[in-house]
This record gives sequence, structure tokens and C-alpha cells, in this order.
Amino acid sequence: MKWIKFGATAVVLTLSTQVIHAQNLPPLKVGMMLPYSGTFAALGNAIDNGFQLYVKELGGKIAGREITYVRVDDESEPSKATDNINKLIKRDNVDVVIGTVHSGVAMAMAKVAKDTGTMLIIPNAGANAITGPLCAKNIFRSSFTNGQPGYAMGEVAAKKGYKTAMTITWNYAAGEESVKGFQEGFEKGGGKVNKMLTLPFPGVEFQALLTEVAAAKPDIVYSFFAGGGAVKFVKDYAAAGLNKSIPLVGPGFLTDGTLEGQGEAAQGMLTSLHYGDNLNTKRDNEFRLAYAKQFKLQPDVYAVQGYDAAQMLTIGLLATKGDISKKDEFEKAVVAAKVDSPRGPFTISKAHNPIQDFYLRQVVGKENKVIGIASKSLADSARGCNM
Ligand code: BEZ
Repeated sequence: MKWIKFGATAVVLTLSTQVIHAQNLPPLKVGMMLPYSGTFAALGNAIDNGFQLYVKELGGKIAGREITYVRVDDESEPSKATDNINKLIKRDNVDVVIGTVHSGVAMAMAKVAKDTGTMLIIPNAGANAITGPLCAKNIFRSSFTNGQPGYAMGEVAAKKGYKTAMTITWNYAAGEESVKGFQEGFEKGGGKVNKMLTLPFPGVEFQALLTEVAAAKPDIVYSFFAGGGAVKFVKDYAAAGLNKSIPLVGPGFLTDGTLEGQGEAAQGMLTSLHYGDNLNTKRDNEFRLAYAKQFKLQPDVYAVQGYDAAQMLTIGLLATKGDISKKDEFEKAVVAAKVDSPRGPFTISKAHNPIQDFYLRQVVGKENKVIGIASKSLADSARGCNM
């Protein structure tokens, strides 16, 4: 049995009520457009696992509709994104698209979803534009906006008394927006970002940039990398001996789902994110146990975001009795809901982004341990969103 909360009201969702809702509807075709290869492959797989886990908990059906999947490996390649999503919509006739990880790919997907009216739930990519100028009634995000964890970490770094910073990231939307968020939080607190270094996505040739850091000696370095790139960057930073004198901080993506590969190099690092490994709530403990049992892996933030994408889809579909074409009713239900996430409950803003707490975490062994709240109930600005 599952509880789903709509606004102030809690509704018990049983398998039998689901069946009554949508007895005559055909299976719901879900298009999973995710990176199943490349530097973000582990992220894509975790999202897919999380989504499947929630559907399994509902007995394989949402609002009484059987779920079938069509999967596309988007390769984190923006130049292929429009073709890939068009194939899902026009050739495969999916009812809803879940994707993706990479902000550049997600922006192309959002344009198509907005034009065609296809329901799109974004389980990671944080591009500002998606809940800004590209916002639409049929586009939702179960994750975050790129600037949010950066801003939270900037505030923390300033409060800790650091005065100068350098940033290093990939030069695409997620990296740029993440370091801008950090700069905003850090400089508001009295710090100064002296230099912003970048390299092309998904490059991992960090040596020249690390030499610049060593020469400039800032008080602190803030970096956005994720997946395979994050593993390599954190290890290279430590191998250059920089972690002894210049603390490396970042959004939690720098150390989430990566600690197995980073090992000693990540120990003690501070990051901020909307999830951590020791929340120790009943909800999260049950989720973590079920995920580990099903996939023989520990969950990470990406698994949670996939799981919550399925929860958001369920909330919308229950309100429309399984009819995904009823976009007004779907939207109204999702915006009124309190999503019972393993990360902690969150609500969805008018621009369709989670309003949520950002935790301050520290790496201890193989865990990102929550050691405090970096920012409470942070909402994104939704600048440019006219819905
Ligand atoms: C992004 O491209 O938006 C992104 C990728 C990986 C982790 C977080 C954000």
C-alpha cells in the first residue's frame, strides 16, 4: 500500500483503486531518454532503476495502466537530442518522456515537448531555461536547478570565512550555471571569485588547470563535474597535492555515486545537495533497502530523482484517471502535491521545479554524510517563465 499526498490531503493508493480508475485504458508507453553510455552512463542507469523501483512498488501499473518502456541512449549528445526525442514521440508513439541528465540535451528535448505538448518529466538536468523561458504546462522537473546547490555551497564557504575562490568546470550550461550560483552565494557573503576556469565537455585533461590553481593559491576551489569526469577530477586534484592546502568543494554531484572510484582522494570533502547517504528517515531507509535489494547497488541522488519522476507521473495520472491528455488536471494535481520523496518531502513550484532543502554533506568513507542544512526550502527564480 502507498500513501500519496495531494496538498493537505493524504490519499491511500491501493492496487484495487488504481484498477478501478483505468480499467479500459491501454498500457502507458514511457520513453526513457537517458545516457546509457559515456561519462554520465551511471547516472542514466540509476535514474532508470529508481523509476522502475517505484513502478514495481505499485505492482507494475500506474493509475491502473500497465507500463511499457522504450529506451534511447542519448549519449549526452545535444546534436542528436532533437532527432532522438522526435523518434520517441512520432515513431514510437510514447505517452510520456522521462529524460535526461545533460542540460544541453534536456533543453533540446524541452523545445520539442513544448511544441508538441508531449508530457516530459526531467529527472536530472538542471538547466535554468527549463523552468525559465522554456517552461510549459507539460514539462516538470524532479531534480533541481543548476544554480541551487552552487548558491548553497557559496553561502557556506563565505560563512566559513574563505575570502578568495577559483572555479573549474565543463563549459556547458550545467557547469556555467553551477559556478554562477556559487559565485552569487559566495560574493553575497563577502567572498570574491577571482578566476573561472573551464574545459570542453566531457574532457578530463585537467593538468593545465590544476597548475593554474597551484600558482594562484585561492582559499578554496569550487567545481562542477559529475559521473566519470568527477571521479577523475577529484583523484587528479588529490594526486597534485592540492587537497592538502586548498579545499575542493562543489555541488554534491562531485561526490555522489562516485565514492567507490574516488576512494581516499574524496575524504573530508564538503558538498551541498538535496540528498545524502545518512538521512536515516523511515522513508529513506525503506527506499535504500528496497533499491539495494533490487539492484545490488547503493542508491544515489540520481536514483532518488528517477524514483520521484515516477511519483510525479503517478500523482498526475491518478488525478486524470490515467488519461495523460488531460494536461490541466495533471498539472493542477502535481503543483498541489507534496511529494513524499526519500530526500524528504518537497513541493513543486509554479514553474514546475522542486522547492526543497539543500543539505551540507561531508565525505566519510563511502558515504556523503549530512552534517547540516546549507539552504532551507530553496526555490529557483523561474526568471522568464510565462505560463
Ligand atoms: C546537467 O547537465 O544539468 C547535470 C549533469 C550531471 C549532474 C548534474 C547536472
